[in-house]
Parts: sequence; C-alpha cells; structure tokens
Amino acid sequence: MIKIAPSILSADFVNLERDIQRVASADWLHVDVMDGAFVPNITIGVPVVQSIRRCTDMFLDVHLMIEKPERYIAAFAQAGANLLSVHLEADHPSGIARALALMEEHKVQKAVALRPITKAEAILPYLEQLDLVLVMTVEPGFGGQAFMDEQLTVVRQVRELIDRYNPACRLEVDGGVSPKTAAQVLAAGADTLVAGSAVYGAPDPAQAIAALRGN
Ligand code: DX5
Ligand code: ZN
Repeated sequence: MIKIAPSILSADFVNLERDIQRVASADWLHVDVMDGAFVPNITIGVPVVQSIRRCTDMFLDVHLMIEKPERYIAAFAQAGANLLSVHLEADHPSGIARALALMEEHKVQKAVALRPITKAEAILPYLEQLDLVLVMTVEPGFGGQAFMDEQLTVVRQVRELIDRYNPACRLEVDGGVSPKTAAQVLAAGADTLVAGSAVYGAPDPAQAIAALRGN
C-alpha cells in the first residue's frame, strides 16, 4: 500500500491547523525539523510538534535534519511523533545506534535517512531493525527543489537490500516528488512519498494527493 505524506514545510504556518486539515485524505503528515547546522535552514522544533499532535490524529512522520540527533529523540517522541528518521551523516555510527535504541525505548517507529551523497549500502548495519528508510531526492534543507533523477538508482538499490534483509521495511522518497516523478520513484521501488510543494502548491491539495497515488 502506497502512503502519501504531505510535508508541512510548504504549508502556511500562520494557518497550520487549517493546512493540516486540507491534507486529511493523505496517510501521514511529514514534519521537517532543521537545526541550521546539519542543513542551512531552521524550521520546526519540539513545541510545534506538540501543538500539531494536539490538532490531528494523523501519523506524524518526523524527519530530523539535525546534528547528533540522539540528543532529541526522547523529546520528539514525547511530543507525539510516531516515526523518527535520523540522517546517517548526522553522527558517528555509535550515535546513530544510540538514537535508534532510544526510539525503541520510546516506542516510536525507527528510520534512517540518506543524503544524495550517501551510498545505499550505508543502511546495512541498521536495516534489520528499521521500520523505514528515507532516500532524499534533493539536498535536504529546502522545499521546492528539482528532483534528482540520478537518485532513482539509489532507490532501486535500497529496494533490493530491503527485499533481501527486511521486506517489511518501508521505503520513503523525499524531495521534488510530483505526480510525474512519483510514477518514477514508485517504479523504482518506493512505497511512501513525501510531497511539499506538489501538494500545498496545488489549487486543490486533495486532488494533488490523489494524483500522487496515480488516480
Ligand atoms: C527537504 C525536506 C522535504 C521538503 C520536500 O529538505 O526534507 O520534506 O519539504 O519539499 P518538496 O516536495 O517541495 O521538494
Ligand atoms: Zn523531509
């Protein structure tokens, strides 16, 4: 089953509750957390996730683009995240392992994310315990960037590894996903699509969500 996860990075933050309701036909809500260090942008923090949790029952897919994410796993879990993804480039392997152990302890789903520079095999030490792998198809940091076609190779490679070692693990793609590129990433093996500008930039977000599903 395909899941669509609109990214609220492209929402109107003054009208966030309204904009969350506008994507109610989606499956998950994607929340981009940026610290101005791992990426050159600062976005949403723990108190905002807490407030979002109070206004929706949607599954909160929280994408941590922060250095040394283990420091914040407990806080985001307690704020109401359902899944946390940490970037493999954001810490040494021991820090990533500790972040995943904290997710287990706090009963949130576990994911690792890959910047475009990172090879598919980098997920191998963690793959058997993961609920999701997130492959970036733009450089993380901003919405509205162009989809990187060359990342389709990484999506295919991650699909092969998932099929071999942990078939229950989901494969999410994030960055430049539109109805056109959605078809390509689904064909490459993704099953979960993040979309910011393609949903919130559309006149009718519900129609955009349907289009991403191929309807
Ligand atoms: C970028 C974020 C994405 C972003 C996607 O660093 O991780 O989730 O919101 O935006 P679009 O879909 O516009 O590329
Ligand atoms: Zn994201």
